[in-house]
Amino acid sequence: HRLLMEELPGAEVLVVSNREPYIHNRVDGEIVLQRPASGLVSALEPVMRACGGTWIAHGSGSADRDTVDRNDRVPVPPGDPTYMLRRVWLSDEEQDGYYYGLANEGLWPLCHISFVRPIFRDEDWRRYRAVNERFADAVVQEASRDDPIVLVQDYHFALLPRMIRERLPRATVITFWHIPWPNAETFSICPWREEIIDGLLGSTILGFHTRFHCNNFLEAADRFMESRIDREHASVTLGGHETMVRAYPISIEWPPSALAGQAPVAECRAAVIGRFGLPPDAHIAVGVERFDYTKGLLDRIHAVDDLLGTHPEWRGKFVYLQAASPTRSKLGAYSALQAETVRLAEEVNARHGRDGYTPIVLSIRHHEPTEVFEIFRAADLCIVSSLHDGMNLVAKEFVAARDDEQGVLVLSGFAGASRELSEALIVNPYDTRSMAAAMDAALRMSTAEQRERMHLMRDMVRQRNVYRWAAQMLLDAARLRKRARILAGA
Ligand code: F6P
Repeated sequence: HRLLMEELPGAEVLVVSNREPYIHNRVDGEIVLQRPASGLVSALEPVMRACGGTWIAHGSGSADRDTVDRNDRVPVPPGDPTYMLRRVWLSDEEQDGYYYGLANEGLWPLCHISFVRPIFRDEDWRRYRAVNERFADAVVQEASRDDPIVLVQDYHFALLPRMIRERLPRATVITFWHIPWPNAETFSICPWREEIIDGLLGSTILGFHTRFHCNNFLEAADRFMESRIDREHASVTLGGHETMVRAYPISIEWPPSALAGQAPVAECRAAVIGRFGLPPDAHIAVGVERFDYTKGLLDRIHAVDDLLGTHPEWRGKFVYLQAASPTRSKLGAYSALQAETVRLAEEVNARHGRDGYTPIVLSIRHHEPTEVFEIFRAADLCIVSSLHDGMNLVAKEFVAARDDEQGVLVLSGFAGASRELSEALIVNPYDTRSMAAAMDAALRMSTAEQRERMHLMRDMVRQRNVYRWAAQMLLDAARLRKRARILAGA
């Protein structure tokens, strides 16, 4: 907030994302709020709480659907509002084409190189473009000046930066791509590769989690566009407009609000053991994610199977608790993953379990942030085994939850977070045997070593928190705005 006042006086901030930060559902006639399982929302919500402004998103809750509550604008957070939530209502057909289709059957597998073949349909592309137009109109409606700062979020809105630039040429558009960007050859299979890159180059600043993803984008712009690439300053100029391409590793709020009011670790442990029916003296490993095929859920279960097979001393003592929120279940690849996970867990449980001992416990439902933090606090180790992931904030949340400086993080080297959390046990999720070995090492790690590693990781997350992520982008934006003013005056 101070940064905005000092560096960007009078600036107006608008955020655009598909997912809304508060979902208003109707349960037994009452409106119940839900916080979505979304890295994007966990990162940006505290920033908006601090800065104020307007967040434009698709209205997705069940209470939004009935006409009574169909308010376009609601002040949030409820109880202590600091910014405005502007909902854009999408029809089922728009959602099918734009969200399920192009975004999640096309761009999601394409960018994650996840061996799930991307699907590209003309009809989805048309809807995607039309929905991007609708959000561009919403930005213009919400902007009270001709030079707002618009924070465009994610792969749902690749075309939006250009559309905003056309409507509001003086806007500062900061686009953040929350998922990986693949190499140029992989990206080139997208039938609309030029349009997508052109859309993104409407941005003033284009951010990715890692330098590696920035370089991949620069390579794609170089190959497919008539643009000028300045590698030294990491920028792309197209049609006289320059876009800065920078790495801004996303993070979480510090201190995390879900930590406030948490019981001591021993009590969290007792609560989790009771709620999920775990053995009282269990060594607990946890995984917390959306039920997504990029997260390596099956690979993790295979590793648990291998651990219990090769280290029978853990049988009866080791439990793996997987909290998985159903997501995008309308899509075949997602429902198939859920069914396969349940089947595989049952198979492994049958192999290694016995009366009163179930090695793998699945909790398939939505988990609110405070419950997630309680689970983290109950764990001896947390496993993040993404096959590919932009950043992965679960890894950072686990670290943030452990103010006792205990617990071990087993982290995929293919998650952006592994660049920053190098004191985790870094694994290749495709290598079952080595992942099982890392779990065994984590279970045997001394409390002193756990403390040393956790201490360093907590320092990293504390310093590089989400306010710094947002501040770095806004400071870069402030500099560019000042420079543009100087050049305009010269
Ligand atoms: O953080 C990455 C992300 O893809 C966000 O874009 C998205 O909000 C989140 O994961 C969850 O996905 P969805 O919004 O489709 O439920």
